[in-house]
Amino acid sequence: MLPVRPAFVAGNWKMNGALAANAALLGKLRMELPECRVAEVAVLPPFPYLDQTARLLSGSTISLGAQDVSRHAPGAYTGEVAAAMLVDLGCRYVLVGHSERRALHGETDAIVAEKFGAAWAAGMTPILCLGETLEERQADATLDVVFRQLEAALALHGVAAFANAVLAYEPVWAIGTGLSATPEAAQAVHQALRQRVAKDDLAVAADLRIIYGGSVRADNAAALFAQPDIDGALVGGAALDADAFLAICRAVNP
Ligand code: PGA
Repeated sequence: MLPVRPAFVAGNWKMNGALAANAALLGKLRMELPECRVAEVAVLPPFPYLDQTARLLSGSTISLGAQDVSRHAPGAYTGEVAAAMLVDLGCRYVLVGHSERRALHGETDAIVAEKFGAAWAAGMTPILCLGETLEERQADATLDVVFRQLEAALALHGVAAFANAVLAYEPVWAIGTGLSATPEAAQAVHQALRQRVAKDDLAVAADLRIIYGGSVRADNAAALFAQPDIDGALVGGAALDADAFLAICRAVNP
């Protein structure tokens, strides 16, 4: 039987990369990914490298995505990048509401919900990032926080928009720290998120890919992927190293 939700592994390069290093990394991924039998892999380079990456990935099974998108249509928004431009460059995915954008660039739930809509309306698949800080977790507020973050996009666009979306649960305290959530703790949040979407639409919830991010490595990926509601990973640090990223992709289908 085919899995209900094909696994998805996305590599978030954050603000890293250079022409030569990108070419080496992508060359290796292209060469070795077919044997990983992963359902779907995407790389998310910084804006200036989207065109280079699109060219280097041409004809491969690896998808292209971006790390952010403007909520505005093209116009007088210096420094912003419109959804239509990302589509023009071949982007299929785009992160919205990564915790670094929320914390360092003042992105509120309302702004993130608008970005989600801009990506979706342009025909891309938004990857909506959700996650609690350490203080929020210690205050037992994890579900309140991720539901509030999800609710903003659900209220603005309706559950139908989630038929072409991915959720990425990324506890802030686990990002770049080496402290991944345990598979059981992550599963509990993923399950709660799916149940929340199911309240609005059972079929959308059943097909919705909910991926985990936060210190995913080769040695913890398989245990995370074995959880029933963890449908893949959003990988940061390990996405910059071809061997580490490939090992995570292989863990989807050990
Ligand atoms: P990390 O980052 O894998 O380095 O923890 C994940 C992310 O921020 O998407």
